[in-house]
Amino acid sequence: EKGGWPSFMAKEIDEDPEAVANTLRGRVQHDTVVLPDLDALGDDYFTGIDRVVIVACGTAAYSAQVGVYAIEEWSRIPSVVELAHEFRYRNPVLTERTLVVSMSQSGETMDTLMAVRYAKERGAKTLSICNTQGATIPRESDAVVYTHAGPEVAVASTKAFLAQITALYLLGLYAAQVRGTLDAERRAELLTEFQTIPEKVRTVLDVRPRIRELANWMADTRSVLYLGRNVGYPIALEGALKLKEIAYIHAEGFAAGELKHGPIALIEPGQPVFVIVPSPRHDDTLHPKIVSNIQEIRARGARVLAICEAGDAAVLPYADEVIGVPPTEPFFEPLLAVVPLQVFAIELATAKGLDVDQPRNLAKSVTVE
Ligand code: F6R
Repeated sequence: EKGGWPSFMAKEIDEDPEAVANTLRGRVQHDTVVLPDLDALGDDYFTGIDRVVIVACGTAAYSAQVGVYAIEEWSRIPSVVELAHEFRYRNPVLTERTLVVSMSQSGETMDTLMAVRYAKERGAKTLSICNTQGATIPRESDAVVYTHAGPEVAVASTKAFLAQITALYLLGLYAAQVRGTLDAERRAELLTEFQTIPEKVRTVLDVRPRIRELANWMADTRSVLYLGRNVGYPIALEGALKLKEIAYIHAEGFAAGELKHGPIALIEPGQPVFVIVPSPRHDDTLHPKIVSNIQEIRARGARVLAICEAGDAAVLPYADEVIGVPPTEPFFEPLLAVVPLQVFAIELATAKGLDVDQPRNLAKSVTVE
């Protein structure tokens, strides 16, 4: 069933483009998002809510963190992510105007399920975003939007992550449409660009041979750091998680702005640091800041591995390795930037001779608390 691939994980990374395409399919008509799945929440539901809380664990929580930037920006509904296992142990404020969204690939994660039950008991409506038809979490939720990444077998989540971000963006655009918080022209522009993303992800996958060389060369690395800002920040966290999980290498993701508040002390000569760089074309605030972060760590001897828009001339002089991705809207950059990080983790684990589908100590679905 691996279809000629050496592992399920390799096959599933190759399916990243389809995960986005299949999750979009049938849900965009011209300049409109169509999500009949949400009808179960009631008429005009999205005009009446005042908060979105997304509960999730692990990779699903990182996709949620990407999603809330977009949901809040487009729909102006205050939105947060909370780790499911923290959520119900701190007496959170929940009202009937709070939408609790759970994000789960398996739909069986016990921590997330318990958070959903807790939210329901406390009077909130629950929406499940899930990759597994008929799983427990969607069955117990008021409504469900399925991601259509297809079955994910490898323990480390890859294609489901892209599908999760896709579903949250659809949700954000839908809520914006209902609430009138985004003009129709801008929405149309975003939706048009959204539909080009599967093809762009496919292009990014062409970096596999180069990343294999990089990983072979780095097989003895003991620690890798990841930096990002804004939607690039959860991508840094996700990149680090992938490496820990399957390559058993110490890895940490930081918000680049935190560097000078402590983590920069970790930088010593030769320390590899992935930096997720936003496109300079859309953004004259974040891009120069990231470039100066790159200069700061480079000056201390870091080995800079930059993921940036192809041809970004500001990054070139300071990066040891530049992984270029096609230009897109800032909100879609995470869907491109995460791909080389998935590939890096699998290539490094492979270089170390590890079983990438079955990492030690981990299970695909965590059905205990
Ligand atoms: C990471 C990974 C885990 C899961 C987490 C939630 O690669 O697989 O962090 O993302 O256990 O699982 P689901 O999405 O099934 O609730």
